[in-house]
Amino acid sequence: MIILGIETSCDETAVSIIQAENSASVPKVLSNVVSSQIKLHSRWGGVVPNLAAREHLKNILPVLEKSLQEANLKPCDIDLIAVTGGPGLIPALLIGVDTAKTLSYIWKKPLIGIHHIEGHIYANFISEKISESSNFPLLCLVVSGGHTQLILMKNHLHYSIIGQTLDDAAGEAFDKVARILKLGYPGGPAIAACAAKSNINNYALRRNINTLKINGVEQPINLPRPMINKDNFDFSFSGLKTAVLYLVKKIPPSRLSNLIKSQIAGEFQQATIDVLVSKTIKAARKYNPKTIMIAGGVSANQELRKQLGEAIKKNLPDTKYQIPDIGYSIDNAAMIAVAGFFRWQKMTSTQKKSAFDSWKKLQADANLKL
Ligand code: KG4
Ligand code: ZN
Repeated sequence: MIILGIETSCDETAVSIIQAENSASVPKVLSNVVSSQIKLHSRWGGVVPNLAAREHLKNILPVLEKSLQEANLKPCDIDLIAVTGGPGLIPALLIGVDTAKTLSYIWKKPLIGIHHIEGHIYANFISEKISESSNFPLLCLVVSGGHTQLILMKNHLHYSIIGQTLDDAAGEAFDKVARILKLGYPGGPAIAACAAKSNINNYALRRNINTLKINGVEQPINLPRPMINKDNFDFSFSGLKTAVLYLVKKIPPSRLSNLIKSQIAGEFQQATIDVLVSKTIKAARKYNPKTIMIAGGVSANQELRKQLGEAIKKNLPDTKYQIPDIGYSIDNAAMIAVAGFFRWQKMTSTQKKSAFDSWKKLQADANLKL
């Protein structure tokens, strides 16, 4: 069957068309068009909801047209429409949801609302044959701009949140620390690129890598690893961000060189990864999943991908490790279409019939629960 996915929960206007036959095969992405608003929002240092909505409105139909063209399909070829119903910025979500409802009505196609995080999780099912029941239970570390959660899945579409952040999400911390270090927006890729520079292959510079001279006194750059030793699977990143702020405040602006910024960015990234990896391994030891996955924008971070993989190999060699393709880590609509496909597979014929009328009921919900 052919599924059209629509995603507008934040600052990407995305439409994708996939082909999927059964839950045991890998869905084929026929088109995956993403129009990013990074340039528009970067001058504000973050996403401005009303500007995002105006941009989605301008882009949604051209992106839809391009997606159909790239897939070489016509509206009559579509079997199902899946759209992000929440959570996210309400003015932004409304554009995608209203577009999907209108298309469902005019084209007479069934419509399903998808939870954005469910979409991120299902990005993992695009590239790998992990759908088989032998890969469950699955443990998924969700790390995005709005969420940091450890989710246990006993089967498809069954989510039990075993831990989550008590304050900022990991991606939010990356964005805020990037703002403190004046590295630009979005913060995740900027921090990762800056941190990579601290890996300098030069002994004279490397000698100073983990220390910083403040008022003539050599001080170590070591940031906290919040809640790493707590006996639960929750996270907290707000204190880590504040620790970076206090550290930077101690440094005279004229001394905040690119090298020092890269040392701080490297230590912040490592502190975040240490907590994420440690809690994921701890949760896996308790729940014994067959597979560990990562999902969400922060899962694009190469160091996180690498270090979690190494920790799993070392501590839980029998556990499979699944990561999404980088292109499907950050917001896109292919993941929404794939999640829509798996939902459709589980629906009864009555539910499938009533999906033709979803356009009457579906509501965007900024705080939608998984
Ligand atoms: O999933 P996503 O695209 O949107 C939300 O659902 O929030 O995630 C966006 C977040 C942002 O905070 C961004 O800074 C972060 O993902 N991010 C990264 C990287 N790429 C994006 N964080 C760390 N390293 C990256 N390479
Ligand atoms: Zn996202």
